[in-house]
Amino acid sequence: MSDKATLEINGEKYEFPILVGSEKEVAIDIKSLRSATGGVITLDPGYKNTGSCESAITFLDGENGVLRYRGYSIEELAEKADFLEVAYLLIFGELPTKEQLDKFDKDIKSHSVVDDDIKKILDAFPKSAHPMGVLSSLTSALTAFYPTSVDVTSEEQMYNSIVRILAKFPVLVAWTLRKKHGLPLDYGDNKLSYVENILKMMFKSPSSDYEQNPILVNALDKLLILHADHEQNCSTSTVRIAGSSHAGLFVSLASGISALWGPLHGGANQAVLEMLEAIKADGGDTKKYMAKAKDKNDPFRLMGFGHRVYKNFDPRAKIIKAAADEVLNDLGIDDPILDIAKGLAKEALEDPYFIDRKLYPNVDFYSGIIYRAMGIPVEMFTVMFALGRLPGWIAQWREMRLRNEPIGRPRQLYIGETLREFKTIEKR
Ligand code: ACO
Repeated sequence: MSDKATLEINGEKYEFPILVGSEKEVAIDIKSLRSATGGVITLDPGYKNTGSCESAITFLDGENGVLRYRGYSIEELAEKADFLEVAYLLIFGELPTKEQLDKFDKDIKSHSVVDDDIKKILDAFPKSAHPMGVLSSLTSALTAFYPTSVDVTSEEQMYNSIVRILAKFPVLVAWTLRKKHGLPLDYGDNKLSYVENILKMMFKSPSSDYEQNPILVNALDKLLILHADHEQNCSTSTVRIAGSSHAGLFVSLASGISALWGPLHGGANQAVLEMLEAIKADGGDTKKYMAKAKDKNDPFRLMGFGHRVYKNFDPRAKIIKAAADEVLNDLGIDDPILDIAKGLAKEALEDPYFIDRKLYPNVDFYSGIIYRAMGIPVEMFTVMFALGRLPGWIAQWREMRLRNEPIGRPRQLYIGETLREFKTIEKR
């Protein structure tokens, strides 16, 4: 392949370098486009064809259903590693040795207390507040309590902020849930593993001990690993672009949490369950909803189907479907919602509309089912996604900082009015 791409505008030719990534992905480097052409830009709404950065964290091949963190396949990581090891891998680039993992775990646990005053902020939210809004606010508020997090030039302070947020974020998640349920806000137990601690903090009743169910611990561990990173998706790009102004880690993460909230991104797992509930309430007729999803005059979409980059299958969905079966069998759950889910998946996988457009169940189609079986309220599903995505956001933010990337500032093609004369209010 040639190492240059040629662009011709008005008979003038411009050459741009072609870059090849370690997995043979090809990119035209257009950094010099504007200056060379006197102001021409590229237009790519939704960034479907635009690489925003060079990154060594996650490799994704949507055509072939491949997802790898730092070169390790998601299938192998989900089977053999735990969430904390994966977090370390994503953030620091290598699987930790035993000593490195012990230190990382110890450093995180040394920060597992959240300033009690944060409870006052939480208290000010109505119980009906959506947990994603609450979580985004509390994460942002951490900056006020730990002001060194705004120092993004010191690697030591960056490390402190990283272990701090990994420790405190599960506490904020648990508090958000407990407030909704009217339960006392508690702290974790440093004797437990990261994932066991999350479950205990979320579900422990004040009047009884919390007993860990290894199947649930394993399923949650897998879910968090599968969600841990997904290269330059909407929320991750938001974290990187917020951080590119040299904003601190916690506020950059708060921006990512807000971006994740929407139903076309992390909010899809909540939307899936709400859709299944609505179909059930409407008599459980999956065919009717399949028809609605295919009708171009109907805005309804089959939530949990389709993906911007996976145009074959979502490798995470395969792994999580197996975990969902295990959890449902173990808990002996017989749920009409799940029958509707299975029915929809079967019909969609056999329907030419979905086959032609390569629309398959994505990870969120199944994750919501597991969360429901675990007793996690629907509104908390996207929060669980955020919990998993945390190490990915951190890794991407850290990479962006260490590469000293320029501030993210896209251009636009202006299509508004040209210069016009101001009219006083009487003349409008
Ligand atoms: N139901 C019905 N039709 C769909 C669906 C769906 N879920 N998804 C895509 N289509 C159709 C579109 O109408 C379009 O049809 P057309 O070519 O006839 O116009 C075609 O498939 C391509 O769809 P796009 O919207 O162009 O695909 P895009 O890559 O932009 O969108 C997205 C991907 C946003 C995920 C989309 O599939 C969707 O809205 N899915 C439902 C929401 C969802 O599950 N989101 C979770 C994503 S996973 C995550 O964030 C972790």
